[in-house]
This record gives sequence, C-alpha cells and structure tokens, in this order.
Amino acid sequence: MVTQKDALTNGIMSCWKSPSNIALVKYWGKKGNQIPANASLSITLSEAYTITRMKASKAEAGKGPGVIFRFEGELNEAFGARIESFLKSVIPQLTFLTDVNLEIESGNNFPHSAGIASSASAMSALALCLCSIENSFKEEAINQDAFLRKVSYISRIGSGSACRSVYGGISIWGKHPSVDGSNDEYAVPLPFELHPLFTEIHDTILIVDPGQKKVSSSVGHNLMKGHAYAEARFNQANTNLTAILVALKQGDWDNFSLITENEALSLHAMMMTSRPGYLLMHPNSLEIIDKVAGFRKQTGAAVCFTLDAGPNIHLLYPANEVEKVKPLIEELKQYCYNGAAIEDKMGSGPLKLNCK
Ligand code: DP6
Repeated sequence: MVTQKDALTNGIMSCWKSPSNIALVKYWGKKGNQIPANASLSITLSEAYTITRMKASKAEAGKGPGVIFRFEGELNEAFGARIESFLKSVIPQLTFLTDVNLEIESGNNFPHSAGIASSASAMSALALCLCSIENSFKEEAINQDAFLRKVSYISRIGSGSACRSVYGGISIWGKHPSVDGSNDEYAVPLPFELHPLFTEIHDTILIVDPGQKKVSSSVGHNLMKGHAYAEARFNQANTNLTAILVALKQGDWDNFSLITENEALSLHAMMMTSRPGYLLMHPNSLEIIDKVAGFRKQTGAAVCFTLDAGPNIHLLYPANEVEKVKPLIEELKQYCYNGAAIEDKMGSGPLKLNCK
C-alpha cells in the first residue's frame, strides 16, 4: 500500500474542470453551517466553467495546509486567504489537509467581470481536486456515487450553490419530501429521466451589467433572518420545487416557465423587502423582462427568464425553439452592456483532466 507519506514525496496532482449552475428554484436564506432554509433546484451549465489544478506536497506534520493560490496566472492573496479559511473548515472531513501544502492554480473561461457567479464553479472545482487527492491515499477505490456525494458536501461548505454543480443536468439540494435521498448537506441528481423537451435547455445570459454584485450572497442570505416574509418564502420554494419536478417529468413548458419566473421575481422581491432593501435589477433588466413577455404572447414561443441576485437575465428555452428565439435575442442585445450575451446550455457536469 502507498502510504500518504510516500505518495506526497513527489507531490500529488489533481485537475478538474467544473461548471457553474443557474438555480430555477432559488436558495436564499440559510441556517447553521451552510444548511439551506429551503430546497433548491438548478441546471448545470456547460460553457461557464472553472479549471483548477492542485498540487499537494508534504508539509511539516500537523502544520498544514499552507496555500499558494494563483488566479489566471497571478498570485491572488485575497482569494488565497478565503481558500485557506475554507480549507481549515473542512479539515474534519479531509484530515490529510493538516499534513500538506497546496499549490492551486485556477482560471475561468468566462470573463471575471461578466457578472456571472463564479463561486459555484470555483468551489466545486476545488472540492473535486481535494477529494481526488484524498482518494489517492485510499487503498480501495471509492465508488463514484459516494465520491460525488462527498465532493458535493465539501463544495457546499465553500459555497452553498456550488454543491449543485457536481452533477450534470439538473441537481437538487436540500431535504424535500418529493425527492427520495435528498439532503441538506449535499446535492443529488434529478431522480428520474427528464422529458425530452428539457434534455437540452438553452440559457442565453444577457449581460445587462458586467460589474461586481451589489450585495454579496452571504449578506443576502443573512437578510432573510427575521425577514417579514421568510417563512412564506421558504414554503413557496418547497411548493415550487414539487411543481417543477412534475413539469420536468411531463414536458410541461408552461408550468416550468411559470414557476421559474415566479422564483426569480420572488428572489428579487425578498431583496426589495429586506432591511435594508436592495433593488438589484436595472431599468434594462425590466425592459428585457417586458419584451420576453410580449414576444411570448405574440409568437407563442417557449421561452422564459430567470435571474441571479443581480441585474443579468438568463433566457431559457428548449433546443427546438432556438431558431424561433433568435430574433428576440438580437432585439434584447440593445439592453446589454456592449451588446454582450453568453450562449450557454445544460451541461454534463464536471470533467477530470489530465494534469500537465
Ligand atoms: C441567488 O451559493 O453564492 O444564486 O452559500 O453564501 O456561498 P453562499 O451563497 P451562494 O448563493 C446563491 C444564491 C443564488 C440562488 C441559488 O443559486 O440558488
């Protein structure tokens, strides 16, 4: 058997590509150590991803983990410090960390300033590398399901939404009576076959504002503590989750669209009605939302929108509507920053890469 000490003498490498995700049923509000206040459901994307390369080498026993972190080739101390504190918090689950130093290099394929949340792809990529390195110390190969569950658990500690990026297609995070095996501590894949209408959902991300988020997620989640509508909101999300599962199974676009937009607007309603309140949409976000509704009424196209905790709009539509929706996208680009839009779609989840 290769001992941890032997394995670390030359250093152990791990490289992963991990995608971002967009929630349809939103996680907004948490308790305890990264436990969600309600269950959430997301689409794993394919074009917005992080690639992370990690090298573990031997540290003085018990003195690890030391961290050197480079983001897109540059040493990044601020993010390195966040990673170091995340690593300290997962020592109970990854005990080898106290005996290693880590060199981490990470990069996104989407511009840092595109206004796309990068914590989901970044934290899941990090967790994948960590759990792969842990596996190389194990005598017996761990089965894939158990591996992904652990990766999802570790990702969640880094950033809640990251735990859903571990699976391709659609993921669900949070204990929910409609989903057997669902759990607050890690995400699970959709427990049934998607209706063919939903097997290739497209997501055109309309970049209304490429700037940094006005409210960080952690501040946002905190605003739900003592929020006047908190309980109603958590119940609404759980009810929407049950309903969207039915829509996904039956190929019911109209209900899918109704629930998805209800979730997006409820998320923003929560922010508007928190104390202090925040308006995260821009006038151009509203223009887009209005135009989407108009286009749908006029053409009957299967297209709807969702938003993250910011002004950018995700336009969702099934593969068979791509041609029909094209003129709408062209029209909406006038409301985007320099006409920026990112073409993305549902993806197949993280990929292990050969380290070079
Ligand atoms: C609006 O996962 O970024 O995107 O757990 O504090 O890192 P932390 O929060 P984060 O929150 C995501 C909020 C959201 C909705 C969602 O992805 O479900």
